Amino acid sequence: MELDRDSRTPLYQQIYDIWRQRVESGEVRPGERIPTERELCDIYEVSQITVRQAIQMLVTEGLLVRRPRTGTRVAHRKFSQDLIRLTSFSEDMRSRGLRPGGMVIRACEESADIRVAEKLRLRNRETVTRLERLRLAEDEPMAIETCHIPVALCPGLAGRDLEGVSLYDLLRSEYRVDMQWAQQSFEASSATSSEARLLGIKRGAPVLRTERLTFDSAGRPVEFAVSVYRGDRYKLNVQMRRV
Ligand code: GLP
Repeated sequence: MELDRDSRTPLYQQIYDIWRQRVESGEVRPGERIPTERELCDIYEVSQITVRQAIQMLVTEGLLVRRPRTGTRVAHRKFSQDLIRLTSFSEDMRSRGLRPGGMVIRACEESADIRVAEKLRLRNRETVTRLERLRLAEDEPMAIETCHIPVALCPGLAGRDLEGVSLYDLLRSEYRVDMQWAQQSFEASSATSSEARLLGIKRGAPVLRTERLTFDSAGRPVEFAVSVYRGDRYKLNVQMRRV
């Protein structure tokens, strides 16, 4: 398939789209090896960076897997998505019998930086709403969440009253954006002094840093969130089963 070099869609995105479609339609089967980066560069007449970016996105989404010696292959259907329900902070807290809260630290519109733009598949400098909140359970600080949402998808979000509001509920009711699935990473870390102050913990105390990219029911990346959870109050539960 040819790439459209006049299109406003970046080349890496076009390559990503082609391979995503191939994987999802079953044209390439689980376990099948896909061409090497070199071969893909020749096929599409693009640089290795471009190919790498497209492949990395497919790997990140779990559609492809990289194997050290045998190359990149189509992933076998993941079952982990069935195991973890996508929930909002409010739902999480309620399910523990706690009253959720959200104190807005900052809500503004800004140009997406390269990292945010890449995650949300935006053109660089496109405007996003940046929402920074201190999340509370029974008025006790639990996490600091900073999320980025494309203004094109949810215009006017930064100007709304977001105090104590569930973002996901608001996105559903006001913007018809239904969060469907997410990719999230968790990393052990320690609190900086400003984080410690907000969270009411000691500087250097253990925290969990997470990044979440959430997609809506139309498959669009809607929210890129970077969060810091209190290590002493937060526990993660995962259900696991043998394949
Ligand atoms: C979780 C996610 C955040 C998301 C939030 C929405 O905590 N990690 O990325 O913004 O839920 O929660 P709520 O709908 O309660 O505002």
